[in-house]
Amino acid sequence: MDASGRLPAAGGDAEASDTLAYGTASRGDVAELIAFWLIAGENDARPVDTLDAIARLIERDPDAVIVARRDGRIVGTVVAGYDGWRAHLYRLAVHPDARRAGIARELMRLAEERFRAFGVTRADAMVLEGNELGQSLWTSLGYAPQAEWRRWVRPL
Ligand SMILES: CC(C)(COP(=O)(O)OP(=O)(O)OC[C@H]1O[C@@H](n2cnc3c(N)ncnc32)[C@H](O)[C@@H]1OP(=O)(O)O)[C@@H](O)C(=O)NCCC(=O)NCCS
Repeated sequence: MDASGRLPAAGGDAEASDTLAYGTASRGDVAELIAFWLIAGENDARPVDTLDAIARLIERDPDAVIVARRDGRIVGTVVAGYDGWRAHLYRLAVHPDARRAGIARELMRLAEERFRAFGVTRADAMVLEGNELGQSLWTSLGYAPQAEWRRWVRPL
């Protein structure tokens, strides 16, 4: 991460450890991201990911999608979204062959570092009630469910 708090695009001068490199996704990564999330992501009860939607996100906020790469291939992701008001986390996922090696923990360290640079004091994540693996991870990272709120939604 440079002095401005920005990560390099992964695949360039990304922060590397062994063969792992952490950085931000670019527009050229959108097809790989969709394929990756089909394998690695929690995919229930969410809108379908599209090339256009991810490209729009990266265009609007080029630092929002943080990825881990091994030998050039995406093995982990988190979307660290800051809308100018709140900080929201989405799509934390690690490839099944790369789990339990601290990749999610490192992605989250980078996401929270990004949020702190904006002066944000709290981050949130949507976690499915039945996702015990996800709940175990978020708990270990210090996150807890907020009992007094429920999300209200309407399809557009
Ligand atoms: C959840 C997920 C992102 C964790 O990725 P990971 O890189 O394996 O996680 P890490 O190695 O950084 O583990 C961080 C902590 O999470 C917890 N954790 C991770 N995997 C776990 C497992 N299988 N069982 C219990 N706890 C687990 C542990 O507390 C772990 O810390 P520790 O290794 O010091 O014990 C990954 O399993 C995944 O992609 N799951 C499918 C998608 C998903 O459910 N995402 C969360 C959406 S809310």
